[in-house]
Amino acid sequence: MQTATTIAETRRIVRDARVAGKIVGCVPTMGALHAGHVSLIEAARRECDFVVVTIFVNPTQFAPHEDLEKYPRPFKNDLEKCEAAGADLVFHPSVDEMYPVERQVNLHVGDLASRWEGTSRPDHFDGVATVVLKLFNITLPDKAFFGAKDFQQQAIIRCLCRDLDVPVEIVTCPTVREESGLAMSSRNVYLSDTERETALAISRALTNARDRFQNPQSTVAEVRQQLRQDLEAVDGLELDYATVVEPVELTESDDEQPEMVALVAARVGKTRLIDNMLLHSSEQGS
Ligand code: PAF
Repeated sequence: MQTATTIAETRRIVRDARVAGKIVGCVPTMGALHAGHVSLIEAARRECDFVVVTIFVNPTQFAPHEDLEKYPRPFKNDLEKCEAAGADLVFHPSVDEMYPVERQVNLHVGDLASRWEGTSRPDHFDGVATVVLKLFNITLPDKAFFGAKDFQQQAIIRCLCRDLDVPVEIVTCPTVREESGLAMSSRNVYLSDTERETALAISRALTNARDRFQNPQSTVAEVRQQLRQDLEAVDGLELDYATVVEPVELTESDDEQPEMVALVAARVGKTRLIDNMLLHSSEQGS
């Protein structure tokens, strides 16, 4: 496995792979890799000939009060995980390499970025979209792999590729869960044992929502309301939002669509957690 810290070196390595006729897969990450990320790298390994993992804690997607400084950066451990999962190249630039001068051009995402996560993180998805487009321009992948856990993120990146004609196929991989049901997240390390127990209410409520949804007697509005009530009743959990939406624009619709997704964000202690579940499918995760 090779590593590169500069854009120029990464471009050179990827160009050689492309010249050799290889299909290039990219897995953008902020490091602190867990089994969810590993499943993305493994999916890229199965579907592509050359796998680039990017590790970059992107400052422009954090609000000033968020956890940029304390975001975990276990770099050596991350490299081991990338190698074991079959990555060919890890691109891990510095902030100066990615944002060398004062920027004049940033992406701005429309309405889709202002709902749900956007309500409490208004500039977050502009930062995500901008860095993802930069990472695509640097690594020129044929395919890029994202987790369904960040459901709104993958929906926005799909729109980014559609609206700006970015020739990258977006592959969304299922959420990986701990045996308890807790969705894997780099931020789970912030949870105390008690908070971890409390956090399990989220995946439980989502599973109940899916069961209710699959009962022909329930309406979408009832499932949405019950999901909210279930989570509002949990001690130690401060609900940010809980809803049932269609999976493209993420709007609330009371008419049942071919697929619908339940989205949740909540704070447990100081940690903000998000999770979601597709409601038509029977598998755990989405
Ligand atoms: O999902 C993440 O880890 C980040 O938002 C991403 C896509 C790597 C952009 O910084």
